[in-house]
Amino acid sequence: MCGIVGYVGSPDVKAGGHNALDVILEGLRRLEYRGYDSAGVAVIADGKVDYRKKAGKLTNLLNELEADPLPNSQIGIGHTRWATHGGPSDLNAHPHVVDGGKLAMIHNGIIENFNEIKRELAAEGETFVSETDTEVAAVLLARTYNAQPADSKDLTVAMQDTSRRLEGAFTLLAVHADHPDRVVASRRNSPLVIGLGEGENFLGSDVSGFIDYTKKAVEMGQDQIVTITADDYKIVDFNGNPAEGKPFDIEWDAAAAEKDGYPSFMEKEIHDQPSAVEQTLLGRLDETGRLTLDELKIDEAVLRSIDKIVVIACGTASYAGQVARYAIEHWCRIPTEVELAHEFRYRDPIVNEKTLVVAVSQSGETMDTLMAVRHAQEQGAKVVAICNTNGSTIPREADAVLYTHAGPEIAVASTKAFLAQITAAYLLGLYLAQLRGNKYKDEIATMLAELEAMPAKIQRVLDEIEGDVKDLAQSMKDASSVLFLGRHVGFPVAMEGALKLKEIAYIHAEGFAAGELKHGPIALIDEGQPVFVIVPSPRGRDSLHAKVVSNIQEIRARGAVTIVIAEEGDEAVKDFANHIFYVPEAPTLLQPLLATVPLQIFAAELSAAKGYDVDQPRNLAKSVTVE
Ligand code: F6R
Repeated sequence: MCGIVGYVGSPDVKAGGHNALDVILEGLRRLEYRGYDSAGVAVIADGKVDYRKKAGKLTNLLNELEADPLPNSQIGIGHTRWATHGGPSDLNAHPHVVDGGKLAMIHNGIIENFNEIKRELAAEGETFVSETDTEVAAVLLARTYNAQPADSKDLTVAMQDTSRRLEGAFTLLAVHADHPDRVVASRRNSPLVIGLGEGENFLGSDVSGFIDYTKKAVEMGQDQIVTITADDYKIVDFNGNPAEGKPFDIEWDAAAAEKDGYPSFMEKEIHDQPSAVEQTLLGRLDETGRLTLDELKIDEAVLRSIDKIVVIACGTASYAGQVARYAIEHWCRIPTEVELAHEFRYRDPIVNEKTLVVAVSQSGETMDTLMAVRHAQEQGAKVVAICNTNGSTIPREADAVLYTHAGPEIAVASTKAFLAQITAAYLLGLYLAQLRGNKYKDEIATMLAELEAMPAKIQRVLDEIEGDVKDLAQSMKDASSVLFLGRHVGFPVAMEGALKLKEIAYIHAEGFAAGELKHGPIALIDEGQPVFVIVPSPRGRDSLHAKVVSNIQEIRARGAVTIVIAEEGDEAVKDFANHIFYVPEAPTLLQPLLATVPLQIFAAELSAAKGYDVDQPRNLAKSVTVE
């Protein structure tokens, strides 16, 4: 939520051509998925702060800058907003410029005690023009700075004093006309990464903010302040004690964050999925076919002793967690629960040192998940993060991390990260099974071989059925409600299919466990009601397939239009399907990697057919950094 960029270059760099505004606007373009209610920039040129800000998407700001350009400069900050306090207006847009135009501030997060501070400042004569918590922080910073002795004014120290007063979650970036060589930034519970260039340095909500300029970055810890200049960066805590960042190399490629000829990032990312799964498997199998997860830096004795696994996540990531539960319980025989992170933390869950908590998060910044991680650790549990974003907070705070290597995911609706999360969760389950041994240990080698075959099978889904799924989506663009049914791992797939449709096509959609149908939801079935059904493999166990085929017949008999996703060669469902999409054969537990793909294509195409912005759906933001 909210994208933040900061930049300091030098005249030397200018010879290479970096004008602060160009760097910042490029960063904002890449971070716009984090929020698109308004955008703004501030630069310092000739010792003066100058700024532009505009409600709406980044294009509005670009138009404003064309009509009323900003001067060239080597220092600036930029912001793209997901509104929290105060609606998406020009006034509430960031930066907030205070102190007679000398200080500009941008912010991501929520300052919980802003009202109390605002009242205090108002009583002392301060006035406010916006409804935001950010302006309050900016005014407080200006006052703190101005209260310093005239001969030792220090923006970093003022930021320390200000940050100690603030409660909640915040990344704050400030520039001041008195210090045209630096950007000062503070972070608590909100993302911020430092980018290191030569004669120039960067700040970003994530590395996409400066991915075009450097591959070197530094993670920051909690409650820290960084001051960047063109040649240096210094980190201190909120009391001014020196602190260390953790350097890392950026693996993402700037080209991977481009649309590559596709009409939307989402469509491109759907097509990235064979590679996302392949990259997530890469380097994790040795030449004998054994699984090695070197990054799982938790004592093997601890991993052998755990008696419960709890997966915590939100949204799509939680559906990946639900798939993981079926796989982990089966392969490892360890009781596994899946819980929405925001519910977990507030219900006093039973978690202890024998619990392994698996936190699944594409961004690594979801506040609900982060808070749940902290809560679990406080109870003594070890936490493994499954995460796609290097340098983000959740993997930093977890005891170990299994990175998914899906590459940057720009579209707000998650696609390739979902498949990569499921893949990583399978690897974790198989690794624990390999480590602990159990009655299904013979399946491990087969499953690993099957997993290796998945990228090619996902590619086949794209090659063979994409066109037909798109045609169906076009024909259904006036549907007002679509239901999704599945059993076993098909159930989370059904919920994921429904979530995709809700979030980007704004159509009422619900995913149900097919077995639950007769316990209520079947009352929704009426003449013409479209229902997707995820059919398990007919080769699977426990007559699951036959049960789902019966469910299809039951809804068909009541007038539903059935859209069936089934395994190729499954003739039994044909007679009851109005539309059928075949996916390649796979073991039931791995089927989500294939069955999800047509649902993603359907949602993206339907959204496009309705003329919506597929990548930036209304009211949403990619990275939910507030609770
Ligand atoms: C839906 C979607 C969200 C995220 C959820 C968690 O398409 O993307 O439901 O899955 O907000 O985000 P992360 O994985 O970043 O923690």
